Amino acid sequence: MKQPFAITIDGPAASGKTSTAFQVAEALGFHHVDSGALYRAATAAALRADPSARWDEIAVLEAARIVEMEARKASFCPLLDGVDSEEEIRGEAVTSRVSIVAKMSGVRDWVNAQVRHLADLHDVVVDGRDIGTVVLPNARVKVFLLADVRERARRRLLQRLGREGNDAELDEEVAKLAKRDALDAVQTVPAPDAVMLDTTDMSQAEQVRQIIDLARAAGASG
Ligand code: DC
Repeated sequence: MKQPFAITIDGPAASGKTSTAFQVAEALGFHHVDSGALYRAATAAALRADPSARWDEIAVLEAARIVEMEARKASFCPLLDGVDSEEEIRGEAVTSRVSIVAKMSGVRDWVNAQVRHLADLHDVVVDGRDIGTVVLPNARVKVFLLADVRERARRRLLQRLGREGNDAELDEEVAKLAKRDALDAVQTVPAPDAVMLDTTDMSQAEQVRQIIDLARAAGASG
């Protein structure tokens, strides 16, 4: 059987990985897999099982048994107990705890096994932190997205508030992102063979186009 085609898109929080990966997958007829959503789903499941959040790795893995991936349009989405729980996994309670869960090596193995399984079966665009280095080191195209922290904060506020943030809001968001960058720094490293794409001054459409060009140059036919 022909080996499926994998594209990895890694980078720091709010660098636009997930929306870019989704659009690239849609354009090429691939499946998008958001590995961060799996860490978030495990965290949400653990919170449901024990809202006090006094879990260890075994408790998180036990709780995560309610998580399964389902194909939706161009994306695989995590379901909790069979139900789409997008709002819950993107909420503050999960966001403030997911970096701790993502440090647990058993949880990393659990996420990586699911991503590798999907990549064995489908042409995929996977976004995350360590996909090109650890999870799919043989991916045909690897991209690492960079963007200035203030620009990432501006985009995040625009997404959340639907308008440009003022200076105080921007400062607060920059501080939050810097904290998350520090928490996730260990696993957020570009692969030596990744193409670095600084998107600070690039539109979303331009990022997507550049990655599609890289994929076609590497033999993707979509
Ligand atoms: O990209 P995100 O904000 O949805 O990621 C959620 C958390 O999961 C964040 O703390 C980084 C972590 N993560 C990771 O450690 N490795 C990945 N491949 C993807 C996400």
